[in-house]
Amino acid sequence: MERIFVSYIDRGMIIAIDGPLASGKGTLARALAAHFSLPHLDTGSLYRAVAHNMMREGYKFNNTAAAADIARHLNINGIIDADLRTAEVGAGASVVAAMPEVRKALFDFQRKFAANPKGAVLDGRDIGTVICPDADFKFFITARPEIRAERRLKELHAAGDNITLEELTKQIEERDYRDANRADAPLKPTETSIILDTSDMGIDEVIQKAVGIIDGTNK
Ligand code: C5P
Repeated sequence: MERIFVSYIDRGMIIAIDGPLASGKGTLARALAAHFSLPHLDTGSLYRAVAHNMMREGYKFNNTAAAADIARHLNINGIIDADLRTAEVGAGASVVAAMPEVRKALFDFQRKFAANPKGAVLDGRDIGTVICPDADFKFFITARPEIRAERRLKELHAAGDNITLEELTKQIEERDYRDANRADAPLKPTETSIILDTSDMGIDEVIQKAVGIIDGTNK
């Protein structure tokens, strides 16, 4: 992938990682952040926090005015990570994420994070396309839907959520459809994205491959 050396000097390295649910993008993002000593932002947690606040305040997820207001004054006090990881919050996050008002409200925070002089790793759905079109590296991580459903099921069961594989597969299909077909910032690779299908790869292999690409040893 072509990259401009001067960008390292002017600002830190920005790594954008996009992909659907349970593709492995979050694990890869955390690993790359640790490897290159960069701050990491899981942007999905912002949309999840909006959905969680809506539930806490008794709003339906399709209430655009409430969602936009919550996003503008996002309050993450008292929310723990486990609260954000439920299937219900994830589904709500994808509903509010389709609202341009919500995306707009969360845009500046993400841009500021990416502007950290040290550089940054951001993962989400629109990092390469909208938030950091200037990223040094853009990864698009994907995996077959049945593999993603099995991965996510393990995580949810470990967290005490008893959702069935059938129910989860349906939710994932709905979420994939909504994320890829919304008018504002749909999930899609850019022309320069490095696409990695992690269906048949262990996470260590995925990390090694991405590190190799960034280090220039595996183009
Ligand atoms: O990645 P995660 O599953 O936590 O994201 C939850 C939802 O938030 C996604 O289904 C997607 O609708 C939305 N999202 C988004 N743009 C991002 C990150 C997440 O629209 N950059």
